[in-house]
Amino acid sequence: MKLELNDSSLLKTKAFINGQWVEGDAGDRFPVLNPATGAVVAEIASVGQAETARAIAAADAAMQSWKALPAGQRSEVLERWHGLIIDNIDDLAAIMTIEQGKPVFESKGEVLYGASYLKWFAEEGKRIYGDILPSASDRRSIVIKQPVGVVAAITPWNFPNAMITRKAAPALAAGCAIVLKPAGETPLSALALAELADRAGLPAGLFNVLPSARSSSVGGEMTSNPTVKKLTFTGSTPVGKLLMKQCADTVKRTSMELGGNAPVIIFDDADLDLAVKGALISKYRNSGQTCICANRLLVQEGIYDAFVEKFAAAVKEFRLGFGFDADTTHGPVVSAKALGDIDTIVQSAIKQGANVVTGGKPSTLGNCFYEPTILTDVNDSMDIFSQEIFGPVAPVFKFSTEEQAIAMANDTEFGLAAYVFTENVGRIWRVSEGIEYGMVGVNETAISSEVIPFGGVKESGQGREGSKYGLDDYLETKYICMGGLQR
Ligand code: SIN
Repeated sequence: MKLELNDSSLLKTKAFINGQWVEGDAGDRFPVLNPATGAVVAEIASVGQAETARAIAAADAAMQSWKALPAGQRSEVLERWHGLIIDNIDDLAAIMTIEQGKPVFESKGEVLYGASYLKWFAEEGKRIYGDILPSASDRRSIVIKQPVGVVAAITPWNFPNAMITRKAAPALAAGCAIVLKPAGETPLSALALAELADRAGLPAGLFNVLPSARSSSVGGEMTSNPTVKKLTFTGSTPVGKLLMKQCADTVKRTSMELGGNAPVIIFDDADLDLAVKGALISKYRNSGQTCICANRLLVQEGIYDAFVEKFAAAVKEFRLGFGFDADTTHGPVVSAKALGDIDTIVQSAIKQGANVVTGGKPSTLGNCFYEPTILTDVNDSMDIFSQEIFGPVAPVFKFSTEEQAIAMANDTEFGLAAYVFTENVGRIWRVSEGIEYGMVGVNETAISSEVIPFGGVKESGQGREGSKYGLDDYLETKYICMGGLQR
């Protein structure tokens, strides 16, 4: 299908460096595919190490005057960028759906979600306070906050817009400049954001977008270049660990938003309808491709059968299809490779004894469509208990006691998001405090927004994005000691 946009100049295929649209030095390009059809949507300029180094130098130069501006002036630019994103929501959503696959209603939701970070940090940037410390002597001790420096960002394909603004907005609000490598699958959303930033009057060099088919060249420069003071990454835990190691040589600060293995714990005393609704939203949002998607449904034995029955009835109502079709509720997964990985996990679970309630196989719609799946007769000795599925597959585990549920929830190296459904207030506190996760949803799974600190513990990462805490990751704390006051 051809991409119809109201403003075709939002479809950019070159890199954006120092305010200019440029080809890569080698002149090579890589294809962006529509996962629903396999068709090539666009051929994108691919940059490497040298272009990345130039972008970093441009960012460093640009941030010298940007950080000196009053926060209110930086805020005005972010507000204008926010406004332009809202004005162009239909085009941004169409670009997202064609390159990522999610249904248009979900793409629009993400564009609004992404824009909300710009609005939020336009405000928060005006509230970067320092401190005057009580003095132990005749000196005065002052604390000021300063931008950390040039920020390198590597973002994923599952949220091609919001994972960028969640990093760029606080970085820019704090007075930093940013060099961004978007996912190879979804560079078009990033490039459209750059076009709108430019129109909003963001000075050249502050927001650079480096599409590339040579991730390790770009990532290698980002992690080794001493001008980069911070790396922020959203993606898999193995890649995050590698980037952290690479950043160690120049002692860069890092923020890591990595993998998850989210449990949804449903107790016998839960409101069944609320739990089913919450599990559906959490498991199948973005066709199961979010780091905070339910990965394990842990259901207490007394409510187990009733839950599976209602849950399965609702899943059977899903309309798997092309993201641009109005009646589609769930789109494809991002690539044939992703689909293969999901199917490997499912087939291995089936071999180990899992029962398929619904789905359990690729759909005939196309190479990237997987049937929404529910598995029962699963247990914690199976691989599916510990693997991040990243697809529309819900294994439903059974537990007996609260202690067992907490132990099962914690039996993973991950600790991003977890969810608990119960009507017992004491249990809400015991479980919320007993599970090792950065975020806990109680009787709620739609937990993300710009006002909350998004992030994980254990091998799910470090740092927080969004909220009043989200600026800290882009600020250094400087102590100034003033003496000689008695002269
Ligand atoms: C993610 O999958 O990393 C982000 C999910 C969200 O922001 O809700």
